[in-house]
Amino acid sequence: MREKTFVYLKPNTIQRQLVGEVLRRFERRGLKIVAMKMLWLSRKQAEELYKEHRGKDFYEPLIKFVTSSPIIAMVLEGDHAVKLVRHTIGSTDPMEASGGTIRGDFAISVRKNIVHASDSLESAKREIALFFDESEIFDYQLPLEEHF
Ligand code: PPS
Repeated sequence: MREKTFVYLKPNTIQRQLVGEVLRRFERRGLKIVAMKMLWLSRKQAEELYKEHRGKDFYEPLIKFVTSSPIIAMVLEGDHAVKLVRHTIGSTDPMEASGGTIRGDFAISVRKNIVHASDSLESAKREIALFFDESEIFDYQLPLEEHF
């Protein structure tokens, strides 16, 4: 069940210089980075990404936060990647995230929760298409891929 999922490292992850730490967790889990870019989200991009949350009380603070500084967007690939990534990052609210997960280890705030990841295969397809052209997503083999 090979899947691709969308992940982005939120502004505070870059500000806190945790990029390497977070990427290491994904790589060690056996997930393959097949696309990656740094960008500064426009309000329009953020609104499109979070359109299902429009009108909720946290919507404005969320949009303000994610557009406050650059982010790093990526596509990760692996067996059951959508679920695997969600398990690796932990619960949305870091106070509920288990130790050993990215949010459980690095975050205390539900807003500044380090990383976003698609919650379903359907969202993954939509979110990947928002940020990446097909030509920016690479199809390549890792030397040890068959051992994961
Ligand atoms: S919901 O309503 O249960 O679907 O929302 P949830 O999945 O808990 O959160 C969706 C995203 O909103 C962010 N969030 C917040 N941002 C700012 N302030 C507050 N209080 C807040 N609460 C939730 C949360 O970080 C989620 O972002 P992503 O990028 O999806 O992790």
